[in-house]
Amino acid sequence: MWMLCVWWVLLGTLGAGSAQLSFAKVPYLEINNCNGPKIILPCVVTNLKDNSSMAMFVSWQFQGNQFFSYDGVNDNITKNNSFNTANFLNRSMIPYGIVSLSVSTKQARLGNYTCEVTEGNREGKTRVELRESSACPKNSSEIVPWFKPVERFSIISIIILIVILYWCQFIIVAKKFDMTFEKKIGLSVTGLLISIFAVIGTIFYVQGGYTALVKTGIGLIVVPAIIVVPLLYFLFTSVFEKQPLFAVILLALKALGYVIAVAGFALCVTECLPKYGAVLIAGLAIISAVAAIGLIYIIIIGSNLKDHQPPRKAVEESLNDAKGVMLE
Ligand SMILES: *[C@@H]1O[C@H](CO)[C@@H](O)[C@H](O)[C@H]1NC(C)=O
Ligand SMILES: *[C@@H]1O[C@H](CO)[C@@H](O)[C@H](O)[C@H]1NC(C)=O
Ligand SMILES: *[C@@H]1O[C@H](CO)[C@@H](O)[C@H](O)[C@H]1NC(C)=O
Ligand SMILES: *[C@@H]1O[C@H](CO)[C@@H](O)[C@H](O)[C@H]1NC(C)=O
Ligand SMILES: *[C@@H]1O[C@H](CO)[C@@H](O)[C@H](O)[C@H]1NC(C)=O
Ligand SMILES: *[C@@H]1O[C@H](CO)[C@@H](O)[C@H](O)[C@H]1NC(C)=O
Repeated sequence: MWMLCVWWVLLGTLGAGSAQLSFAKVPYLEINNCNGPKIILPCVVTNLKDNSSMAMFVSWQFQGNQFFSYDGVNDNITKNNSFNTANFLNRSMIPYGIVSLSVSTKQARLGNYTCEVTEGNREGKTRVELRESSACPKNSSEIVPWFKPVERFSIISIIILIVILYWCQFIIVAKKFDMTFEKKIGLSVTGLLISIFAVIGTIFYVQGGYTALVKTGIGLIVVPAIIVVPLLYFLFTSVFEKQPLFAVILLALKALGYVIAVAGFALCVTECLPKYGAVLIAGLAIISAVAAIGLIYIIIIGSNLKDHQPPRKAVEESLNDAKGVMLE
């Protein structure tokens, strides 16, 4: 019985005496657009005894390979070239167990980082995994694109669709209905303008990342889209003398789509991980849907026109025939 007690006490001191250092637990970090130029790999020892860096040795490993070490006796840091931006978050906090590392986001690679600390005869280690954000999957050597891939694809294809639909509407109205030369020039130039905005916006936007350039790109895609609302109105004025209710409804819907797209843009532009991309896409989708309906409408009106009222060319031909008959 007595022996057993001693045994337990011995075991206890063994456990406590060689006491391991313990750490604040951070299982993983996510790398995404919201990371600034630097990323912090956390490592905080919670039970240091000496509070002196002289007794400490710190080693940081990436996937098992040491890339950074700190020798407290010499107060000397050694690091691997591939992690030359690595540094202690705050060197004066080492004695208090804060040995977190700051690394440039570009240099940080995805994987497991191990922080190993020794204080006198006590030691311990902790692991933190650097993962790609589930919201925007990435390879750490690449730029994380702003918006999810499917959202990026939708935005780009919808704006291209909007531009193509406009040109189809313009060509059909110019061919089938009366349109003055000045109006044709005006509508072509404005159409060209919106096409240029869309192309430049798309080029900027596909650069990826949450940068000023990419934000400008999406701004150039969304904001000038207002132009297609008056453009549709001017096309309709060539088709109808008095706008029918359906045309007015289409114009109102198009304007509404624009308002929604701009609201979505405003909600997204300040977010490194935009949550309301769907609002922006919905707005653009309404604009393009209205454009498609408008195109079909113009085509139907155009073909009816041919059946009921003979185009001017035919009238002229019959007049010429009449003249010919009279001359004979
Ligand atoms: C070291 O700091 C801890 C708390 O941070 C304290 O409990 C301990 O007494 C300190 N040890 C020395 C030797 O100052
Ligand atoms: C610090 O480390 C470097 C490289 O490992 C070595 O050349 C230098 O002598 C060390 N300095 C001290 C004070 O130990
Ligand atoms: C730096 O790390 C790379 C890969 O992790 C390794 O191949 C290389 O030998 C290391 N260099 C030094 C000086 O430790
Ligand atoms: C490091 O920590 C000390 C104490 O908290 C603080 O006074 C100092 O400003 C910090 N230095 C940096 C570079 O953050
Ligand atoms: C990091 O470690 C965890 C647990 O051991 C493992 O599941 C994961 O696959 C590792 N990650 C990498 C990138 O090796
Ligand atoms: C990153 O991409 C390269 C080549 O595209 C690939 O070999 C590597 O495994 C990728 N790394 C990760 C962490 O996905």
